[in-house]
Amino acid sequence: MGEAIYPVPAEWAENALIDDARYTAMYQQSVSDPDAFWAQEAGRIDWIKPFTKVKNTSYHAGDFGIRWFEDGTLNLSANALDRHLTTRGDQIAILWEPDSPDEAERRITYRELHEMVCRFANVLKDQGVNRGDRVTIYLPMVPEAAVAMLACARVGAIHSIVFAGFSPEALAGRVEDCGSRIVITADEGLRGGKKVPLKKNVDAAAAQAPGIEKVIVLARTGADVGMVPGRDIDWHAACAAVSPENSPEEMNAEDPLFILYTSGSTGKPKGVLHTTGGYSVWVSATHQYVFDYRPGQIYWCAADVGWVTGHSYLIYGPLLNGGTTLMFEGVPNYPDPSRFWQVVDKYQVEIFYGAPTALRALMREGDEWVKKTSRQSLRVLGSVGEPINPEAWEWYHKVVGEGRCPIVDTWWQTETGGTMITPLPGATALKPGSASRPFFGVQPLLLDNDGTIMEGPGDGCLVIADSWPGQMRGVWGDADRFFQTYFTTFAGYYFTGDGCRRDEDGYYWITGRIDDVINVSGHRMGTAEIESALVAHEHVAEAAVVGMPHEIKGQGIYAYVTCNADVEPDEALRKELIAWVRREIGPIATPDVIQFAPGLPKTRSGKIMRRILRKIAENDVGSLGDTSTLADPSVVDHLLANRPQLA
Ligand code: WT7
Repeated sequence: MGEAIYPVPAEWAENALIDDARYTAMYQQSVSDPDAFWAQEAGRIDWIKPFTKVKNTSYHAGDFGIRWFEDGTLNLSANALDRHLTTRGDQIAILWEPDSPDEAERRITYRELHEMVCRFANVLKDQGVNRGDRVTIYLPMVPEAAVAMLACARVGAIHSIVFAGFSPEALAGRVEDCGSRIVITADEGLRGGKKVPLKKNVDAAAAQAPGIEKVIVLARTGADVGMVPGRDIDWHAACAAVSPENSPEEMNAEDPLFILYTSGSTGKPKGVLHTTGGYSVWVSATHQYVFDYRPGQIYWCAADVGWVTGHSYLIYGPLLNGGTTLMFEGVPNYPDPSRFWQVVDKYQVEIFYGAPTALRALMREGDEWVKKTSRQSLRVLGSVGEPINPEAWEWYHKVVGEGRCPIVDTWWQTETGGTMITPLPGATALKPGSASRPFFGVQPLLLDNDGTIMEGPGDGCLVIADSWPGQMRGVWGDADRFFQTYFTTFAGYYFTGDGCRRDEDGYYWITGRIDDVINVSGHRMGTAEIESALVAHEHVAEAAVVGMPHEIKGQGIYAYVTCNADVEPDEALRKELIAWVRREIGPIATPDVIQFAPGLPKTRSGKIMRRILRKIAENDVGSLGDTSTLADPSVVDHLLANRPQLA
């Protein structure tokens, strides 16, 4: 079975910023002389005090540390806003399309955005926010989310955005972990015509997180949410009362910029920490080269600000590059499955960056929804968050892009800050389903289970050999966990947690997580996190969660649950547990399947054999492998005999 290859179209090779020869030359320099390469790329940022040292990194115990541009100073907000004012002050910075097509859009120029950010920075300062303080942002997809981020960066505060789909419990845990005194939220969010009670969730979180002293509330729907005197502050009133001028703080390149919580293979989500200088250079460079971006082009990244894609490629990358970034509040299928492409036509979007899960859902609705729109403005299509299956890739290419637009399938992680493996539209022949080749400065390696480097084609664990500027710098509040999690599985390498195949052409094909992390609709979930939510229920004795194949979501959540001896599990309890997990974590953690099991397959030493649970969830029961080391092999027969009927 030959795999399809799409060569670089001639006009792309001619006109793109990077063609294949240039990619090869630049990549070569980026890995042989990273100091020279990144010193040059750092010229895209206005430094207050120029750096004298580019790279100072080690992955080894003893002298472990990751520092880029370490003696340089800058302010990210000034780079994203102030420096554009003379050249593009009246250009649109943010186009905002509301949830409902009947509501008016907003078009915010760089000058207007600058003033909004300066005012909000002054509001933060009035509330006593200083350099290094943590500020939690729990906002829907409205321009004020960008304003809050940029205002934090301006005053030197560290933002921690919590996705507005997370529960009060999840919010409280993240607020407590980073010790933020302030939460910024809205009265309600709007998605697909439904209201999300954000302020109410913050009130509930505050009952569990006594550290919350102030809540700044943006009126989005105008609902009467009740303001707590002395604690709650109205966004607009506060902004109206302060000066429209604010001078940005001079930050060190290695000063923290943001914390973003993400799931790992162990219980609690970890606060991934990114710093200022390297991150700015990295997101600006990747955004420009990966999308062949020119200032002023209409660019739409459909990710939520609550995820790293929203941080790097909805806000920071495009604004650093003087871009016009489109923010869409809604969902792909509301009011109908044409919505995405109607928005493309409305704003003449040139670059669209979305997730495979949304594409698969839209693909299922039929081509008519796409074909009734023009989409002539589109030039580049992007994919992110999970492997894109070749069928969805071909549909994206043929139906959405009419065969005209290169697809950049970008592999990266919350930890990597920006894109690591990706095609470049003018340089890379495309293979549907492959993230293709490394970005500049990225040295991927495949290791076998013994940690031996594999040469040539093969399948192994994906690690990265050297540091890149946008790499995370730590786990908030737990210095040791950073080193332990990423640099001890294979000493001397950054361990990604992903499995990967490399083909004869040196193209990389990500095969998915090889740790206890699952990817549901492009959202990362720790199985341990869902298990601890389940066992927190009074009727549950034990739980084991694994991923299962899911046509739309990529992976679904399959939970095996053992109830307490005095409980007779039934349909009502199943429903209750599903609702329970949603409440504990949020709707994205909703289990797709709950299988009640009187016992789980364990080794004699008590370790759950997840391999078997995965196979059963995948309906791959012919190859359960060796079950002889199980303490009680009959457990497996019971599991097989009682698999729930899947829809
Ligand atoms: C995990 C990281 C990328 C930012 C948003 C998700 C998977 C991500 C791809 C891709 C195959 C991908 C990996 C990775 N992943 N992009 N293009 N092809 N897999 O960030 O939540 O930190 O998740 O998402 O498994 O490890 P995240």
